[in-house]
Amino acid sequence: IPGKLAATPPMGWSSWNKFAEDIDDATVRAMADAMAASGLRDAGYTYINIDDGWQGKRDASGMLHPNAKFPDMKALTDYVHSKGLKIGIYSSQGPRTCAGYEGSYGHVQQDAQTFADWGFDYLKYDLCSGEWFYADADTVKRSYYEMGAALRATGRDILYSLCEYGRFEVGSWGRYVGGELWRTTGDITDDYKTMAQIGFDHNGNPAHTGPHGWNDPDMLEVGNGGMSTEEYRTHMTLWAMSAAPLMMGHDLRETTPETLALLTNPRVIAVDQDVRGIQGTAMRKQGTMEVWAKPLVDGRVVLALFNRGEEAAEMALTPADAGLATVSGVEDLWSGQQADALPASYTVPAHGTVMIAVHG
Ligand code: GLA
Repeated sequence: IPGKLAATPPMGWSSWNKFAEDIDDATVRAMADAMAASGLRDAGYTYINIDDGWQGKRDASGMLHPNAKFPDMKALTDYVHSKGLKIGIYSSQGPRTCAGYEGSYGHVQQDAQTFADWGFDYLKYDLCSGEWFYADADTVKRSYYEMGAALRATGRDILYSLCEYGRFEVGSWGRYVGGELWRTTGDITDDYKTMAQIGFDHNGNPAHTGPHGWNDPDMLEVGNGGMSTEEYRTHMTLWAMSAAPLMMGHDLRETTPETLALLTNPRVIAVDQDVRGIQGTAMRKQGTMEVWAKPLVDGRVVLALFNRGEEAAEMALTPADAGLATVSGVEDLWSGQQADALPASYTVPAHGTVMIAVHG
């Protein structure tokens, strides 16, 4: 049952990175307000996703209710929809979620129907709960399929996000259980080391990604304060080069102009959202430097030059890096500056990035 949504990588916001379990109705509404007012919505960010921590108890009929922090889910989804946005929710295939709340085990069809009735457009489905986490491949795949089929059976378009950390080569089967995106790694944290480990080395097998099914190297930390602007630029560049889902993870009310510029650069977003959906890869590694390439639908090739080292470094790009004999046009994607030829070399700041699109 391959997914039909997410022709390009999904974009939005999720509560987990900033708020963890400290989330409630008013905060979710405030995020929807900020998304619409800040320009983030108009830049392409669509989903407002409630992660773990919304669940209350099941009633006698088995129906899952939200906890006291979410008095009326239908009113909340209506509110988010009224802002021109979509809204997501979270559950887990075991009896408990990762933060210990009620999971969907034994209630899969019922929960899928509840989420649809409430008006949700997105489900992140996790894998936790003690020994459940160590379930074998068949059990895990069957459980993801069960929820995928249950979501489909509701008749509502609900985007399906698999969160099992890349186990059992999820990219090779994620779309066949109905998934539109699947995590490729453990959880990101707001520091350069973890972000770089994921973004450079654990962003998934490029052969698995493409329209309607995306490798997901986890949510963004941009704007949360643990990295420098150059490091957050590298974070965005890596995710865009990887055609990764762009799920923001900061408090949208506190989006500084600098953060907004990183998150809404139209040229960088266009690389992420390119309809060919090709995941860029490292073509060349040299010391602390990496050169990545990603072909676009308009015939250009995006080259990203990364410096993973602790000091600024110089490096030259050549037409061959883009598979070209010559280069006759260069656009710097972060600045928008155009040129007719590649410069002799680029100076790349420590932990920094240069990102250009070239054509022959
Ligand atoms: C797991 C997921 C996180 C988050 C938490 C919630 O760790 O990987 O993204 O959803 O569970 O408990």
